[in-house]
Amino acid sequence: MYRKLEQDVQGFREDEKVLAKRIAEYAHPKTPTPTEEDVALAGAYMVGRFQDGTPVVDREVAGLGPMPNNFTFDADPDGVRCPFQAHVRKTNPRGDKQRQFGQPLTQERTVRIVRRAVSYGKVTLQPGKDDKVGLLFLCAQSSIADQFEFIQNQWANNKDFLRDKSGLDPVIGTRKLDQPNPDPIVNGDWPKLYGSRNELDFSKVPPAVVGHTFSEHVGERVTMKGGEYFFVPSLSALRTYGGMEEGT
Ligand code: HEM
Repeated sequence: MYRKLEQDVQGFREDEKVLAKRIAEYAHPKTPTPTEEDVALAGAYMVGRFQDGTPVVDREVAGLGPMPNNFTFDADPDGVRCPFQAHVRKTNPRGDKQRQFGQPLTQERTVRIVRRAVSYGKVTLQPGKDDKVGLLFLCAQSSIADQFEFIQNQWANNKDFLRDKSGLDPVIGTRKLDQPNPDPIVNGDWPKLYGSRNELDFSKVPPAVVGHTFSEHVGERVTMKGGEYFFVPSLSALRTYGGMEEGT
Protein backbone atom coordinates (compact mmCIF):
# COMPACT_ATOMS: atom_id res chain seq x y z
CA MET A 1 0.00 0.00 0.00
CA TYR A 2 1.47 3.33 -1.03
CA ARG A 3 0.21 6.83 -0.24
CA LYS A 4 1.53 10.33 -0.79
CA LEU A 5 0.56 12.26 2.35
CA GLU A 6 1.01 16.03 2.27
CA GLN A 7 1.58 17.57 5.70
CA ASP A 8 0.52 21.00 6.94
CA VAL A 9 3.50 21.35 9.26
CA GLN A 10 2.72 24.98 10.05
CA GLY A 11 -0.81 23.98 11.09
CA PHE A 12 0.47 21.11 13.20
CA ARG A 13 2.84 23.50 15.00
CA GLU A 14 -0.07 25.87 15.64
CA ASP A 15 -2.09 23.06 17.23
CA GLU A 16 0.97 22.21 19.29
CA LYS A 17 1.24 25.81 20.54
CA VAL A 18 -2.44 25.94 21.53
CA LEU A 19 -2.02 22.74 23.49
CA ALA A 20 1.19 24.01 25.08
CA LYS A 21 -0.69 27.08 26.27
CA ARG A 22 -3.30 24.86 27.81
CA ILE A 23 -0.65 22.75 29.56
CA ALA A 24 1.09 25.89 30.85
CA GLU A 25 -2.17 27.34 32.21
CA TYR A 26 -2.68 24.20 34.28
CA ALA A 27 0.90 23.38 35.20
CA HIS A 28 2.18 26.87 36.18
CA PRO A 29 -0.81 29.22 36.27
CA LYS A 30 1.17 32.14 37.71
CA THR A 31 3.50 32.18 34.69
CA PRO A 32 1.20 30.82 31.97
CA THR A 33 3.48 31.53 29.00
CA PRO A 34 4.36 28.13 27.51
CA THR A 35 7.98 27.05 27.95
CA GLU A 36 9.96 25.00 25.42
CA GLU A 37 9.25 21.96 27.59
CA ASP A 38 5.50 22.64 27.43
CA VAL A 39 5.67 22.80 23.63
CA ALA A 40 7.70 19.58 23.49
CA LEU A 41 5.23 17.86 25.82
CA ALA A 42 2.29 19.06 23.72
CA GLY A 43 3.89 17.56 20.59
CA ALA A 44 4.60 14.34 22.47
CA TYR A 45 0.96 14.13 23.59
CA MET A 46 -0.10 14.47 19.96
CA VAL A 47 2.32 11.91 18.54
CA GLY A 48 2.83 9.72 21.63
CA ARG A 49 6.60 10.19 21.42
CA PHE A 50 8.91 13.17 21.77
CA GLN A 51 10.87 14.29 18.75
CA ASP A 52 13.84 12.15 19.82
CA GLY A 53 11.51 9.14 20.08
CA THR A 54 11.09 8.99 23.87
CA PRO A 55 7.62 7.53 24.55
CA VAL A 56 5.54 10.05 26.52
CA VAL A 57 4.00 7.15 28.44
CA ASP A 58 7.43 6.64 30.02
CA ARG A 59 8.47 10.23 30.78
CA GLU A 60 7.31 13.83 30.65
CA VAL A 61 10.58 15.05 29.11
CA ALA A 62 12.63 13.82 26.16
CA GLY A 63 16.02 12.17 26.41
CA LEU A 64 15.36 8.71 27.70
CA GLY A 65 17.93 6.94 25.48
CA PRO A 66 18.60 4.19 24.52
CA MET A 67 15.25 4.39 22.82
CA PRO A 68 12.73 1.70 23.70
CA ASN A 69 10.41 0.43 21.01
CA ASN A 70 8.80 -2.28 23.09
CA PHE A 71 7.17 0.07 25.61
CA THR A 72 3.61 -0.63 26.73
CA PHE A 73 0.60 1.29 28.02
CA ASP A 74 0.05 -1.23 30.82
CA ALA A 75 0.78 1.35 33.53
CA ASP A 76 -1.46 3.94 31.89
CA PRO A 77 -4.85 2.28 31.39
CA ASP A 78 -6.73 5.62 31.53
CA GLY A 79 -4.53 7.58 29.15
CA VAL A 80 -3.24 10.07 31.70
CA ARG A 81 0.37 9.86 30.51
CA CYS A 82 -0.16 9.11 26.83
CA PRO A 83 -3.54 10.25 25.51
CA PHE A 84 -5.67 7.60 23.78
CA GLN A 85 -5.69 10.16 20.97
CA ALA A 86 -1.90 10.15 20.41
CA HIS A 87 -0.89 8.92 16.95
CA VAL A 88 1.12 5.93 18.15
CA ARG A 89 -1.56 4.87 20.65
CA LYS A 90 -4.33 5.13 18.06
CA THR A 91 -2.40 3.19 15.44
CA ASN A 92 -0.89 0.56 17.79
CA PRO A 93 -2.85 0.42 21.05
CA ARG A 94 -0.49 -2.19 22.54
CA GLY A 95 -3.09 -4.05 24.57
CA ASP A 96 -5.67 -1.29 25.11
CA LYS A 97 -8.35 -3.35 23.42
CA GLN A 98 -7.71 -6.18 25.83
CA ARG A 99 -7.76 -3.83 28.82
CA GLN A 100 -10.80 -1.91 27.62
CA PHE A 101 -12.93 -4.54 25.92
CA GLY A 102 -11.46 -7.85 27.11
CA GLN A 103 -10.52 -8.84 23.56
CA PRO A 104 -7.61 -11.26 23.17
CA LEU A 105 -4.29 -9.57 22.45
CA THR A 106 -3.82 -11.85 19.45
CA GLN A 107 -6.83 -10.17 17.81
CA GLU A 108 -5.38 -6.65 18.18
CA ARG A 109 -2.07 -7.89 16.81
CA THR A 110 -3.64 -9.08 13.56
CA VAL A 111 -4.08 -5.39 12.69
CA ARG A 112 -0.35 -4.61 12.73
CA ILE A 113 1.43 -3.36 9.60
CA VAL A 114 5.04 -3.11 8.44
CA ARG A 115 5.83 0.55 7.62
CA ARG A 116 8.50 2.32 5.61
CA ALA A 117 8.33 6.02 4.71
CA VAL A 118 10.47 8.81 3.30
CA SER A 119 9.73 12.48 3.69
CA TYR A 120 9.74 14.92 0.76
CA GLY A 121 10.02 18.72 0.52
CA LYS A 122 11.74 21.24 2.75
CA VAL A 123 10.16 22.73 5.90
CA THR A 124 11.01 26.35 6.73
CA LEU A 125 8.19 27.08 9.21
CA GLN A 126 7.71 30.53 7.67
CA PRO A 127 4.19 31.22 6.45
CA GLY A 128 3.94 30.57 2.72
CA LYS A 129 7.62 29.68 2.42
CA ASP A 130 7.36 25.93 2.72
CA ASP A 131 7.77 23.65 -0.26
CA LYS A 132 5.01 21.12 -0.43
CA VAL A 133 6.12 18.70 2.24
CA GLY A 134 4.98 15.32 3.40
CA LEU A 135 5.55 11.65 3.58
CA LEU A 136 5.74 8.93 0.94
CA PHE A 137 4.19 6.22 3.07
CA LEU A 138 4.47 2.54 2.29
CA CYS A 139 3.13 -0.34 4.33
CA ALA A 140 2.86 -4.08 3.89
CA GLN A 141 0.19 -6.36 5.30
CA SER A 142 -1.67 -9.51 4.37
CA SER A 143 -5.02 -7.69 4.13
CA ILE A 144 -5.18 -3.97 3.26
CA ALA A 145 -8.83 -3.83 4.38
CA ASP A 146 -8.27 -5.49 7.75
CA GLN A 147 -5.00 -3.78 8.57
CA PHE A 148 -4.11 -0.44 6.90
CA GLU A 149 -7.71 0.62 6.18
CA PHE A 150 -8.88 -0.61 9.56
CA ILE A 151 -6.22 1.46 11.38
CA GLN A 152 -7.03 4.58 9.36
CA ASN A 153 -10.84 4.31 9.43
CA GLN A 154 -11.73 2.54 12.65
CA TRP A 155 -9.02 3.91 14.90
CA ALA A 156 -7.40 7.13 13.57
CA ASN A 157 -10.57 8.67 12.09
CA ASN A 158 -12.79 7.48 14.93
CA LYS A 159 -13.10 10.14 17.62
CA ASP A 160 -14.68 7.57 19.96
CA PHE A 161 -11.75 5.14 19.85
CA LEU A 162 -10.54 4.05 22.38
CA ARG A 163 -13.14 5.69 24.57
CA ASP A 164 -15.99 8.04 23.78
CA LYS A 165 -14.76 11.50 22.81
CA SER A 166 -11.10 10.50 22.78
CA GLY A 167 -10.75 12.58 19.60
CA LEU A 168 -9.25 12.13 16.14
CA ASP A 169 -5.66 11.05 15.65
CA PRO A 170 -3.94 14.50 15.67
CA VAL A 171 -1.52 13.45 12.93
CA ILE A 172 -3.58 11.51 10.38
CA GLY A 173 -7.16 11.73 11.68
CA THR A 174 -9.80 12.93 9.24
CA ARG A 175 -13.45 13.71 9.93
CA LYS A 176 -16.20 11.80 8.19
CA LEU A 177 -17.80 13.92 5.48
CA ASP A 178 -21.08 14.25 7.40
CA GLN A 179 -19.39 15.57 10.54
CA PRO A 180 -19.58 19.31 11.22
CA ASN A 181 -16.74 21.73 10.64
CA PRO A 182 -13.97 21.69 13.23
CA ASP A 183 -14.40 23.75 16.34
CA PRO A 184 -11.09 25.60 16.65
CA ILE A 185 -11.32 25.70 20.42
CA VAL A 186 -9.26 23.16 22.31
CA ASN A 187 -11.84 21.98 24.78
CA GLY A 188 -10.10 19.08 26.44
CA ASP A 189 -9.81 18.81 30.17
CA TRP A 190 -6.10 18.80 30.94
CA PRO A 191 -4.41 17.32 33.97
CA LYS A 192 -2.77 19.80 36.27
CA LEU A 193 0.39 17.75 36.15
CA TYR A 194 1.73 15.07 33.82
CA GLY A 195 0.21 11.77 34.88
CA SER A 196 -2.38 13.27 37.20
CA ARG A 197 -5.89 11.91 36.88
CA ASN A 198 -8.83 14.13 36.07
CA GLU A 199 -12.22 13.00 37.17
CA LEU A 200 -15.28 13.44 35.01
CA ASP A 201 -16.36 17.05 35.09
CA PHE A 202 -20.15 17.02 34.95
CA SER A 203 -20.33 20.80 34.76
CA LYS A 204 -19.35 20.32 31.12
CA VAL A 205 -21.80 19.12 28.51
CA PRO A 206 -20.85 16.55 27.41
CA PRO A 207 -18.72 15.72 30.45
CA ALA A 208 -14.97 15.74 29.94
CA VAL A 209 -13.33 12.31 29.65
CA VAL A 210 -11.01 10.98 32.33
CA GLY A 211 -7.40 11.44 31.30
CA HIS A 212 -5.93 13.68 28.64
CA THR A 213 -8.09 14.72 25.80
CA PHE A 214 -7.29 17.80 23.81
CA SER A 215 -10.05 18.12 21.30
CA GLU A 216 -12.07 16.05 18.92
CA HIS A 217 -10.99 18.49 16.28
CA VAL A 218 -7.23 18.60 16.57
CA GLY A 219 -5.93 16.87 13.49
CA GLU A 220 -6.65 17.01 9.80
CA ARG A 221 -3.17 18.30 9.04
CA VAL A 222 -2.45 15.59 6.50
CA THR A 223 -3.99 15.44 3.02
CA MET A 224 -3.91 12.31 0.93
CA LYS A 225 -2.66 13.30 -2.52
CA GLY A 226 -2.76 9.89 -4.13
CA GLY A 227 -1.56 6.36 -3.83
CA GLU A 228 -2.01 2.81 -4.93
CA TYR A 229 -2.69 -0.66 -3.62
CA PHE A 230 -0.31 -3.36 -4.84
CA PHE A 231 -0.30 -7.11 -4.65
CA VAL A 232 2.94 -8.86 -3.77
CA PRO A 233 2.81 -12.66 -3.94
CA SER A 234 3.78 -14.46 -0.75
CA LEU A 235 7.09 -16.31 -0.54
CA SER A 236 5.23 -19.63 -0.46
CA ALA A 237 3.37 -18.67 -3.67
CA LEU A 238 6.63 -17.71 -5.35
CA ARG A 239 8.17 -20.99 -4.27
CA THR A 240 5.20 -22.95 -5.56
CA TYR A 241 4.68 -21.19 -8.88
CA GLY A 242 8.03 -19.59 -9.55
CA GLY A 243 10.19 -22.67 -9.24
CA MET A 244 12.22 -21.09 -6.40
CA GLU A 245 14.21 -23.39 -4.18
CA GLU A 246 14.09 -22.97 -0.37
CA GLY A 247 16.69 -20.38 0.69
CA THR A 248 17.11 -18.76 -2.76
C1 HEM B 1 2.21 12.20 7.22
C2 HEM B 1 1.72 11.16 7.85
C3 HEM B 1 2.35 10.50 9.05
C4 HEM B 1 3.27 10.97 9.94
C5 HEM B 1 3.92 12.36 9.99
C6 HEM B 1 3.52 9.90 10.89
C7 HEM B 1 4.40 10.00 11.96
C8 HEM B 1 4.69 8.96 12.83
C9 HEM B 1 5.66 9.03 13.90
C10 HEM B 1 6.53 10.26 14.24
C11 HEM B 1 5.67 7.83 14.53
C12 HEM B 1 6.53 7.41 15.73
C13 HEM B 1 7.86 6.89 15.32
C14 HEM B 1 7.77 5.55 14.64
O1 HEM B 1 7.36 4.56 15.26
O2 HEM B 1 8.07 5.51 13.43
C15 HEM B 1 4.70 6.98 13.85
C16 HEM B 1 4.39 5.71 14.20
C17 HEM B 1 3.41 4.95 13.59
N1 HEM B 1 2.57 5.32 12.57
FE1 HEM B 1 2.61 7.09 11.61
N2 HEM B 1 2.75 8.82 10.55
C18 HEM B 1 2.03 9.13 9.45
C19 HEM B 1 1.11 8.33 8.79
C20 HEM B 1 0.70 7.09 9.22
C21 HEM B 1 -0.34 6.30 8.59
C22 HEM B 1 -1.15 6.69 7.34
C23 HEM B 1 -0.45 5.16 9.33
C24 HEM B 1 -1.40 4.00 9.13
C25 HEM B 1 -2.68 4.15 8.85
C26 HEM B 1 0.53 5.22 10.39
C27 HEM B 1 0.75 4.25 11.32
C28 HEM B 1 1.74 4.28 12.28
C29 HEM B 1 2.04 3.15 13.15
C30 HEM B 1 1.36 1.78 13.16
C31 HEM B 1 3.09 3.57 13.98
C32 HEM B 1 3.79 2.74 15.06
C33 HEM B 1 3.05 2.85 16.37
C34 HEM B 1 3.75 2.02 17.42
O3 HEM B 1 4.10 0.87 17.16
O4 HEM B 1 3.95 2.54 18.52
N3 HEM B 1 1.20 6.42 10.30
N4 HEM B 1 4.10 7.71 12.83
